[in-house]
Amino acid sequence: MIQAIRGTKDILPSSSPYWQFAEYIFRTISRRYGFEELRTPIFEKTELFSRSVGEETDIVNKEMYTFEDRGKESITLRPEGTAPIVRSIIENSLLNQSQTLKLWYCGPYFRYERPQKGRLRQFHQYGAECIGASTPESDAETILLAVSVIRELGIDNFKLLLNSLGNDDSRTAYKNALLKYLTDHQNDLSDDSKRRLESNPLRILDSKDTNDIQIVENAPLILDYLDQESNSHFQKLKYFLDNANIEYQISPKLVRGLDYYNHTVFEFQHSALGAQNSFGGGGRYNDLFNQLGGKETPAIGFALGIERLLLIMESIDSLPSIDMRPDAFIVTTSPDLFVHTQYIAQQLRFCGYNINIDLQQRSVKAQFREANKQNAKYTIIIGKNEIINNNVIVKNMSDGSQYEISISDLIEYDFS
Ligand code: HAM
Repeated sequence: MIQAIRGTKDILPSSSPYWQFAEYIFRTISRRYGFEELRTPIFEKTELFSRSVGEETDIVNKEMYTFEDRGKESITLRPEGTAPIVRSIIENSLLNQSQTLKLWYCGPYFRYERPQKGRLRQFHQYGAECIGASTPESDAETILLAVSVIRELGIDNFKLLLNSLGNDDSRTAYKNALLKYLTDHQNDLSDDSKRRLESNPLRILDSKDTNDIQIVENAPLILDYLDQESNSHFQKLKYFLDNANIEYQISPKLVRGLDYYNHTVFEFQHSALGAQNSFGGGGRYNDLFNQLGGKETPAIGFALGIERLLLIMESIDSLPSIDMRPDAFIVTTSPDLFVHTQYIAQQLRFCGYNINIDLQQRSVKAQFREANKQNAKYTIIIGKNEIINNNVIVKNMSDGSQYEISISDLIEYDFS
C-alpha cells in the first residue's frame, strides 16, 4: 500500500467542517479589519527564501523542500508566507495603488522538520501583512486582528509574548554587548551556538540546549539597548494594546526564528499544545522590501498555524458542533422510480435543503437503515401508488410521525 508522506495528513470528512469553520473566521474577521486576500503559488525560486528568511536560519539551512525542476531551476516549496507576499507586491506593483496595503492569506506550507504532535512537514497557516506604515498604530491593528481571529475561534487562555528588536542602531549596539557576554562563555556553549556566535548571535537566545539556556539567563537584554526612536515605538504600541485591553507579557529574549525582523516581534502560546506551545507569531520587517529588490517599505505581519489552532480548540472543547445530517433521505420503493426520486431531490436541493438518495438500488429496509445511519431528520418515501396520486410520505425520524403530502406542496414543507 502506498502511504502518505511522513509529516503530512489527510483532512478527512470528519474534520473538514472544522477547517471550513476556521477558514470562514479568517475570511470574515480579515475583512472586518480591512484586509484583502492575496494567493501566491506554493513554490517559488529558492533564492527568494534564502535572501529573506536568512541563510543562517534553521528554515533555510535544514528545513526547505528544495529541488531542481526539469528546466534546471532551483525551486522551493514555500516554508512561509511573508517572502512570497513581498515578492508578489513588488512584482505586481500593488503598492502604487494604495498607501497601506493590508493582505491576508491561508494555505499549505512545507518544512522538513521532525514530525510530532502539532509539527508537520506540510502544515497550514493563516497570516496577514500590513504594508506601508511604520507606525506603532499599524503594529497594534495587526496584533488586534490576530487576537480577534484567535478569540473568534473560541480560544481565550492564550499568552501573547511581546518584544522589540529595535532599529538597526539598537540591534548593532545590543549584538556587540551580547557577543561580548557570550564570547566570555564561549567554551560552555553548544556546538550549534558556537557556530551561531559568528553568524547570528541573537538566535542563541532561542537555543533549547540546557547549558545554553543557563548561560543566556544572565545575558544582556535587548530592551536595555533600544535607542530613543525604538523605545518610543515600543512604548506607544504597549499603550495601544493596554487601551484595547489586550494582555501581553514582555519577553526580552523573544527573537523568533526568521532573520527579517526589526522593532516589534510577538508570539502566541497556549499550554494545551505541550512542547510545541507556540501557535503563531510575527513581527515588523522594515528592510525586507529592500532586500528583495523593492523600494524601502515598512511592514508588519503574523501567521497562525491552523493545525495548532485546531488542536487547541479540540483540547479546550471549543470546536463548533457542526450539523452534517441530511435534512431528508428519500426512500424509493422501486429502482424504476429513480427519475421521480431525483426530480424531487433536485426541487428540494434548489430550495437549499440537504437531500440524500439511494444510489445502489437497495431494498426499502436497507434504505431506512442508511437514513438512520446518516441521522437524517426526515425520510421521504416514494412508491408507485404515491406517484400515481402525486403524493409522497414524509416521516419525521425523531418522533416517528408521518404525513402524506402532495408533491407540489413538498417544497413548502419545512425540513429544517
Ligand atoms: P513562524 O513562527 O515560522 O512565522 O510560523 C508561524 C506559525 O506556523 C507557528 O507559530 C506554527 O503555529 C506554524 N508552524 C510553523 N511550522 C510548523 C510545522 N512544522 N508544523 C505545524 N505548524 C507549524 C512565519 O512563518 C512568519 N512568516 C510569520 C510572519 C508573517 N511574520 C511576519 N509576517
